[in-house]
Amino acid sequence: MLSKTIEEALNNQIRVEAESSQIYLAMACWAEVKGLEGVANFMYAQSDEEREHMLKLVKFVNERGGHAKISQLKAPNVTFKSFKEMFEKLFEHEVFVSQSINELVHISLQERDYATHNFLQWYVAEQIEEEAVARTILDKINMIGDDKGGLYLFDRDIENLTVTTAAIDNPE
Ligand SMILES: [Fe+2]
Ligand SMILES: [Fe+2]
Repeated sequence: MLSKTIEEALNNQIRVEAESSQIYLAMACWAEVKGLEGVANFMYAQSDEEREHMLKLVKFVNERGGHAKISQLKAPNVTFKSFKEMFEKLFEHEVFVSQSINELVHISLQERDYATHNFLQWYVAEQIEEEAVARTILDKINMIGDDKGGLYLFDRDIENLTVTTAAIDNPE
């Protein structure tokens, strides 16, 4: 059985993951109308992943005697000054999500909820990976700068982008 404190904290994370999904969906749309199909597909996939993260939490809360609350979401940014700005936002957002997960882990220990603590380890590993991917993309974008040809190649290659982190050795 979940304590009220844990239930509330998990419900907050459900909202964070749902908002992440919307943020990346908006980025996918912007990239698509700008003609960068590879970037758009990458963002659509990110958006789907965030929805999976949300659903995993939803199921966990409901299975443990809580009630997953589906709440109103903040509207995401729908336009960006540049691709560089968009990827900066992606990276900043992943750092924010990592902080949110860390806070949740902290609360689970305070509440001595070891089942939730164990469940959250998947998210801790996932965030290491997501931050690493976002950082790699941002490095590439910074290298390209305003070069149109570079952006063309980047768009072609982004879907095959893989980043190996320590977290990948221990996938779920
Ligand atoms: Fe997530
Ligand atoms: Fe993420």
